[in-house]
Amino acid sequence: MRAPILLALLAGCAGGESDDPCADAPVVTYASFGQDFMRENCQSCHASTSDNRNGAPEDVVFDTEDDVWERADRVLERAGAEPPTMPPQGGLEADDQERMRIWLECGG
Ligand code: HEC
Repeated sequence: MRAPILLALLAGCAGGESDDPCADAPVVTYASFGQDFMRENCQSCHASTSDNRNGAPEDVVFDTEDDVWERADRVLERAGAEPPTMPPQGGLEADDQERMRIWLECGG
């Protein structure tokens, strides 16, 4: 009698009835997206090796995946804003912005 109950529970977790916005989201990871995104949009000022930080705080460094996760809430707040407030000059693609949200809110 236990198997049907277990299957029902698993089916519930797999989506369908769920209102979890991440349930149907595509898989977005640092390797598949985040690394390139940070390099192209943020590291010119926020890499530890940057020649010209343009005033970016010394301690706000995005060299590694861990660096990003430590400040994921701030990255979402600034780069996820409408319009984004990072990078300061703007220019984030809407598509990239959406993928960044999925990466940091749902991914790993
Ligand atoms: C042209 C240089 C430049 C680029 C590119 C840039 N930043 Fe910044 N960043 C700054 C400066 C200057 C500050 C300090 C002033 C401020 O907070 O607005 C800053 C501060 C920050 C802070 C710390 C302040 C806070 O609100 O927590 C975060 C987080 C941040 N940036 C995230 C990002 C992200 C994410 C990107 C890429 C999507 C990015 N930045 C791209 C220059 C830059």
